[in-house]
This record gives sequence, structure tokens and C-alpha cells, in this order.
Amino acid sequence: MEKVKIAVIGVGIIGEQHLQNYAKIPEADVVAICDINEERLNYIGDKYGIERRFTHIGKMLLEEDIQAVDVCLHNNMHTPVSEAVMRAGKDCYCEKPMSGSFADAKRMYEVMEETGKKLHIQLGFIYNDETKAAKRYIDSGDLGKIYHMRSYGFRRRNRPYVDGYGAKEFVNTTTSGGGAMFDMGVYHISQLLYLTGLPKLERVSGHTYAEIAMDEGRREISGFNVEELGVGLATYEGGLSLDILEAWAIHGKPFPGSAIYGSDAGITFEPFELHTRQHDLEIDVKADLWQRDYLDHTVYADSAHYDNSQHHWVHALLGKCELLPTAKIALETQRVQEGIYFSQKLGREVTAEEIEQLSESKALEILNLAL
Ligand SMILES: NC(=O)c1ccc[n+]([C@@H]2O[C@H](COP(=O)([O-])OP(=O)(O)OC[C@H]3O[C@@H](n4cnc5c(N)ncnc54)[C@H](O)[C@@H]3O)[C@@H](O)[C@H]2O)c1
Repeated sequence: MEKVKIAVIGVGIIGEQHLQNYAKIPEADVVAICDINEERLNYIGDKYGIERRFTHIGKMLLEEDIQAVDVCLHNNMHTPVSEAVMRAGKDCYCEKPMSGSFADAKRMYEVMEETGKKLHIQLGFIYNDETKAAKRYIDSGDLGKIYHMRSYGFRRRNRPYVDGYGAKEFVNTTTSGGGAMFDMGVYHISQLLYLTGLPKLERVSGHTYAEIAMDEGRREISGFNVEELGVGLATYEGGLSLDILEAWAIHGKPFPGSAIYGSDAGITFEPFELHTRQHDLEIDVKADLWQRDYLDHTVYADSAHYDNSQHHWVHALLGKCELLPTAKIALETQRVQEGIYFSQKLGREVTAEEIEQLSESKALEILNLAL
């Protein structure tokens, strides 16, 4: 069986999860890992039986047999490391969000175009059963004119680090670039942009908040300075609108989840339901998503190409399917997200062009990259 030789950079929480996922993909062969934390590197190397271990990214990228590199570092490291990966002649997988700013994400996209290497961003929701079902209805035109999208993500109290789970690097702009809007919004917004065929953003306004008390010791250690709640209203070409509400923490009941509304039908995602009118009756349609998945894996040939982000990536590298344009979807997701930050800062709506002009690099200098 033809296999892809992969290296993983950053074997923290998500890096380890990626190793567990690769173990379930027969065509994936993880041949090397890299982490600046030697203790963690050796712990993970021993646990998963990976012999080739590096603390220096640049040195690992010199290894010729490595075809693809998976970047599991914090947001503001994504751009410099992904760029180095692609310039080293290797295909690149990168964790979400694409980067800590639109400017950095754009740079990654440009390096992808310049080098001709494949760049794939982890946008997990586009492989969901709900997304696959929605795509069938949307592609067949059953929704009629789609005029509104809703990106909703709810956590009652689950800000990374300060509320328990996750590293402190999630909650300060130096390492993450942003808070709930980046971290959670990326999944929901990218799902909607993918389903609606990447509409062109015209303008966006929004607000960000961090109002709820937290453990003061953890606030200080982490340098928490990002939003726990982000809200926004965006307008895309043709008048298509998107409202966004992404909460890491909020005193309230769960939001109803994301949705897409059209003139003939609407879709809500949690759980998947199609809402329409038949014979003057308002109808709600549920679907057996398990059955669809079962058929995909038995009757239809191309199923496993889209099982999850890593599966898709490995299959695309082997030429079994076309790589979905996740770099472009992630770039456009980042545009509207950072637009909300600029709108909060300026106290007004901002245009897509302004976001491009205002956005600056937040990329960190990576000391273990240059040789
Ligand atoms: N934790 C999650 O549940 C989760 C889920 C989805 C996506 N992500 C994304 O994954 C990325 C990493 O998050 P995480 O939770 O795994 O963080 P983490 O802190 O657990 O892991 C990051 C790892 O990178 C290593 N590292 C830091 N600087 C390095 C360098 N210069 N060279 C090599 N290694 C270096 C650290 O030692 C650490 O082991 C973030 O972009 C995040 O948004 C995380």
C-alpha cells in the first residue's frame, strides 16, 4: 500500500490527537515528531513508538523522505512554520484557525500559490454528517434563494485555561491573536462559507466582550486579553447576510446552533433538520445520517476521502481525491473574524478591503526554525 510519510510539529494536546487519528488511517505513516519541550517529545515518542524526534524545526525539515508536515503549534506560529514547511518542498497541514491575523493567513495562502505545495487547514465541521446532508439540499437548489446564515457556538463556562481545559496560549493575543471568535467561530463560519460556495464579503460590524469573572491567578499567569464572547453581522455579495454569536462563556442557556435560511427551505444543524412548506403546511424533515454514512462506506466508492480532515488530507496527497479548498475557506473565515475585531476597535462597520488594509502580521519569531 502506498503511504504518505508525515511529520508532526508540536505534540501538545492537539498534536497527540492527530497522532491518534493517523493511527486509524492505514495510508498515513508518521515518521518524525518535533517539539521544543523535550520531555513531552520523548513521552509522546515513546507512547506512539516514533523514533525520529527533533527539537529543531529547521533540522527536521531537511529530512528528505518527509513528504508532508502537520503543524500543531499555537496560532501565531502557524504562518512562519507553514511557510518554512512549504519552502522546504513539503505539503503542509495546519491546525485552525489558519493564523492569528488575516495578514498572516494571506501570506500562507500566497506561499502555497508560489510554491505549488498543498496547504490544508483543519476545518473539522465541513466533514460532519450534518454538513454532508446540508450540501445535498443546497447543491440541488432545494433552499431556493439563500439569504441568511447564522454562525452560533455556545459554551456556558469553558474559556481555555482560565476555566480548566487547554493551554494559556489560547487566551492572549501574543500567541493566539484572538479568543472565542477565532477559536470556535472558525468551525461554524467555515462550515457556512463552504456550503454557500464561498460568497464574497462586503462589510461587517461587531462587538467583543470579556465581562465574566475568572480565577484571578489564572488570569495573571495567562495574560488573558481576548474576547469570551464575539458577535457580528456581516453582509456578503448579493445581500446574503450572516449573524455570528460565539461564546466561550456566557450567563445563558444554549444557543440553537448554526443555520442557513432560503426562500424555499431552511436548514438547522444541531440536530440536522430541513424546514420547508408543502401543500401550505410548515414541514420539518429529519434525516437518517447514519444510513447515509453507511451507504457511503459500502455502496459508494469515494466515501473515506471525506471521513475527517486528516483522512481527506492523506487521500488527497495520494491523489485519491481533490483537496477541498480549505486554505481559501479558512482565509475568508479569518477575514470576517478579524473584521469584527476591527469594527469593535473603530466603533463602526468595516469593509472587506479595509480589513485587508488594516490587518497586520502577528507572527512570532520562531527561534528553532532557522539553521
Ligand atoms: N487543544 C484543542 O482541543 C485544540 C483543538 C483544535 C485545534 N487546536 C489548535 O491546535 C493548536 C495547538 O493547540 P494545543 O491545544 O495542542 O496546544 P498545546 O500547548 O497543548 O501544544 C502546543 C505544543 O507546541 C509546542 N511548541 C511550542 N513552541 C514550539 C516550537 N517553537 N517548536 C516546536 N514545538 C513548539 C509546545 O511545547 C506544545 O507541546 C492551536 O492552534 C489550537 O487552536 C487545539
